[in-house]
Amino acid sequence: MSSNLFTPGAIGPLTLRNRTIRAAAFEGMCPGNAPSQMLRDYHCSVAKGGIGMTTIAYAAIVRSGLSFPHQLWLRPEIVPDLRRLTDDIHKEGAAASIQIGHCGNMSKPAMAGCTPISASTGFNIYSPTFVRGMKKEEIYEMAKAFGRAVHMAREAGFDAVEVHAGHGYLLSQFLSPYTNHRKDEFGGSLENRMRFTRMAIGEVMKAAGDDMAVLVKMNMRDGFKGGMEIDECIEVAKTLEREGVHALILSGGFVSCAPMYVMRGAMPIKTLTHYMQQFWLPIGVAMAGRFMIPTVPFREAYFFDDAVKFRKEVKLPLVYVGGLVSKEKIDMVLDAGFEFVSMARALLNEPDFVNRMAKEEHARNACEHVNYCIARMYSQEMACHQHMKDLPRKLEREIEKIKRKG
Ligand SMILES: Cc1cc2nc3c(=O)[nH]c(=O)nc-3n(C[C@H](O)[C@H](O)[C@H](O)COP(=O)(O)O)c2cc1C
Ligand code: SF4
Repeated sequence: MSSNLFTPGAIGPLTLRNRTIRAAAFEGMCPGNAPSQMLRDYHCSVAKGGIGMTTIAYAAIVRSGLSFPHQLWLRPEIVPDLRRLTDDIHKEGAAASIQIGHCGNMSKPAMAGCTPISASTGFNIYSPTFVRGMKKEEIYEMAKAFGRAVHMAREAGFDAVEVHAGHGYLLSQFLSPYTNHRKDEFGGSLENRMRFTRMAIGEVMKAAGDDMAVLVKMNMRDGFKGGMEIDECIEVAKTLEREGVHALILSGGFVSCAPMYVMRGAMPIKTLTHYMQQFWLPIGVAMAGRFMIPTVPFREAYFFDDAVKFRKEVKLPLVYVGGLVSKEKIDMVLDAGFEFVSMARALLNEPDFVNRMAKEEHARNACEHVNYCIARMYSQEMACHQHMKDLPRKLEREIEKIKRKG
């Protein structure tokens, strides 16, 4: 079958020049929770590199949704800076999307300015922090905040918004029975657990009107015992399709319980602790990291088998994400009926990988999936180890060790 990778594709009112999307991958390039020149330069390099649409990651819709000092917080003051960013992306011929969400129980009190909130009260050991279950009126207000974020995104020149409903963040914490123990109409049955997401999506669709594309990133499985499994997640996908969203991005995993399920491979713990600034945290992470962040074996296109099951159940455009590094596998995914492919690490490693694929039939990206970029992202701006000069010897040794183990 001939590849449709370089043919235009539609997501609701938006048409992309080709089938590629730069996945939302936390850049850590927003000191003071505002966009920086570095963020602009990175996304422009991906746009110049031929991507159909690039996604600015992990923007909190309200302050209480923040977990990092270098994370984007979508608020009126930063709209002019974001406008410059989207103008630059558009000049390179790509569309611009912004991922909007709330970290829920992964928020950090110092950043969020309050006790982290979630579906239910408890303690999040991964963060680690106490968590307060949201009051009903807060849920209604938060749904509206999703709609307000879309209005700001439009003003900032974005063509699309991506609602983050996966990976164990706030919406996902309501969807999952592991974190949602509510006894009211927002907890219990799947229908009740979906209520908040449906309300938020309702506000998003209203605000998006007929000129912005709406994508939702969701889990196909939470990735651990007691979390959501594929049957329930297929019901979520069908519900989102009925709500009128324009595309689904199919992912999986839960930051507080199955962090490597999302990206696969091993977490380089020495790298993680090396960049941590609080003096006490590295000790705890070094001791418990191996148990708290278990390795999940990587293979190319690791979500493909699950994603195919979704393809059979829904008709709306689907975006495949997870372990794509070669044109061969990208063509396989598109041939299986997925409208778009999304990549994070391949484009962090090589921002113009898309242009290279246009020239080379057997193009393959050099990402080795040792996840230095992931360990680093918690405290530094995003970077690939292959681009780093003068890495400390102990980190080089750790990277070599992970590579050897495969
Ligand atoms: C450094 C890094 C940061 C990430 N941050 C986010 C994020 O902010 N939001 C999100 O939905 N996924 C995030 N992800 C997950 C990616 O979007 C993607 O789902 C995952 O990496 C699998 O795709 P890949 O194999 O092409 O990297 C991140 C991944 C990486 C490598
Ligand atoms: S740091 Fe490692 S996993 Fe991340 S993009 Fe570079 S090679 Fe890939």
